[in-house]
Amino acid sequence: MFLELAAKRYSCRAYESRAVEKEKIDRLCKAAQLAPTGCNKQAPRLFVIQSPEALAKIRSCTPCHFNAPVMLLVCYDSGDLWHRSYDGWDTGYTDAASAVVHILLAAADEGLGTCWVGCFDPQKVKAQFNLPSNLVPAALIPVGYPAQGPSPMHGDRLPLTETVTYL
Ligand SMILES: Cc1cc2nc3c(=O)[nH]c(=O)nc-3n(C[C@H](O)[C@H](O)[C@H](O)COP(=O)(O)O)c2cc1C
Repeated sequence: MFLELAAKRYSCRAYESRAVEKEKIDRLCKAAQLAPTGCNKQAPRLFVIQSPEALAKIRSCTPCHFNAPVMLLVCYDSGDLWHRSYDGWDTGYTDAASAVVHILLAAADEGLGTCWVGCFDPQKVKAQFNLPSNLVPAALIPVGYPAQGPSPMHGDRLPLTETVTYL
């Protein structure tokens, strides 16, 4: 049931050092590919960061790496986005967020922990990986097997009566 999977996902901030199987990472990438994007422009670009050299680079860009054995860098290509004609709004960040949510849920389904990380230096990320100017770093996702420890806790949620309006 979908709500069970949604409840299983939480922001994991402690990971085992053991490697994550490539097939599992491949399925996370597939989940991102299946996510909806504005006008199907498919702007998200994923970087699977797993070599010691690349991990050291990304860890220098954020305090929120949690020593995960894999970090996914989700960017979007700003060169070919859908723009809303009424006000010029583009779907870049939203397309990236769409991919992130699919990845987080797919990882939970694989028994993997993740955390959506927005706290990073985007300019430093671009410099460390020599990213072209059209790629905008939108999110980092540590991925790995959750370390044993205190039970995972979701952040508090507002009651639906405060956040949902039936009209
Ligand atoms: C856009 C966004 C940015 C976030 N950035 C960070 C971050 O930089 N570091 C972190 O530890 N958690 C980050 N989080 C995770 C939130 O703190 C977390 O989702 C929230 O507290 C609810 O907890 P839960 O994910 O366990 O349900 C981010 C979440 C979102 C959606």
